[in-house]
Amino acid sequence: LRVSCGLIEPDGGNLVELLVEESQRDLKKREALSLPRIKLSRIDVQWVHVLSEGWASPLRGFMRESEFLQTLHFNSLRLDDGSVVNMSLPIVLAIDDALKLRIGESKKVALFDQQGIPVAILNDIEIYKHPKEERIARTWGTTAPGLPYAEEAITPAGNWLIGGDLEVIEPIKYHDGLDHFRLSPAELREEFTRRNADAVFAFQLRNPVHNGHALLMTDTRRRLLDMGYKNPVLLLHPLGGYTKADDVPLEWRMRQHEKVLEDGVLDPETTVVSIFPSPMHYAGPTEVQWHAKARINAGANFYIVGRDPAGMGHPVEKRDLYDADHGKKVLSMAPGLERLNILPFKVAAYDKSQGKMAFFDPSRAQDFLFISGTKMRTLAKNKESPPDGFMCPGGWRVLVEYYDSLASS
Ligand code: ADX
Repeated sequence: LRVSCGLIEPDGGNLVELLVEESQRDLKKREALSLPRIKLSRIDVQWVHVLSEGWASPLRGFMRESEFLQTLHFNSLRLDDGSVVNMSLPIVLAIDDALKLRIGESKKVALFDQQGIPVAILNDIEIYKHPKEERIARTWGTTAPGLPYAEEAITPAGNWLIGGDLEVIEPIKYHDGLDHFRLSPAELREEFTRRNADAVFAFQLRNPVHNGHALLMTDTRRRLLDMGYKNPVLLLHPLGGYTKADDVPLEWRMRQHEKVLEDGVLDPETTVVSIFPSPMHYAGPTEVQWHAKARINAGANFYIVGRDPAGMGHPVEKRDLYDADHGKKVLSMAPGLERLNILPFKVAAYDKSQGKMAFFDPSRAQDFLFISGTKMRTLAKNKESPPDGFMCPGGWRVLVEYYDSLASS
């Protein structure tokens, strides 16, 4: 695949693209029908999507055991030329005992979606043990019950993992009215090139944008201009795959983000809004590396990170699962992310003395109000307003409408 010059190179040098040529689709579909079948879960399909477009470049399919072990133990992969790329989350496909038996000696399997449509062929397969407890412990640093992704996709999954090279038959679509926001890394690179970006700064998020988030983004743009860049472009990149039940669904977040641009909190002229197809693990410092690595492949050379990225409350104890500063510290030291400029930010909170979101100043802590996700949800549910300056009114109305729709359903 042609990679536009000027932008940061993808990991491994070339952007991986696993879609078969259009002229080959019928052939591959027919081949798929003749192979042993694996029925993919919704989350498995999201990973096929991620792999197919090269977000995990240079990975060419679900991990084989050597890739899985390197990921778990080193958060990185060593390539044939000796270089190292970051890879912190296992991208694996689980199967159960019966399926393993059915696959037998076959070298290939076909992957089908929930509707029974063939999605991909997995070639040169390798089947190995799925060490679930170890996978959970090493990815999250705990095996406490109640980790959303683990309960949804690991604990109930099969005892085997199957790795191999993917050939994806058709582009993955969701038909939810948002597919046009799902730009692939290649499409994003084209868009940044078309806009003549001389720096691309990515902002990963899974929550509605409040003015604290916006502060990180506008401050970054200012810093890049000060550094001499002429045309820094923001990639506002909400995560679109699996999220936990109490997060705001993608559809509502996209509406909220639209208002944030409409209300001028962010500048549409210098912002590209797109959806990142990955599922969410909530694995804090381990996961934020994946979030950053994937954006290199999409052409971003700057990455914003603030308080407790990819974090959540401890599922059992009354505290955050991760130290709120570890994400940004780890990111700045992570193997294989040396080429990415990490922009670490202090926590932003509501400054009562100014009536707006500002970076927390511990010397006058009493001036600041921390509005947690839980607090925000409670306010929106009760149709109360947050303090002026916390979020643009249009964006807030979308949240109130969302919680209203929950209450009435
Ligand atoms: S995340 O799971 O995607 O990291 P979220 O959408 O809450 O969650 O955060 C997006 C980004 O904003 C992350 O880099 C996070 O560290 C940062 N962030 C969120 N809230 C704050 C805050 N109050 N102050 C500083 N940074 C924040």
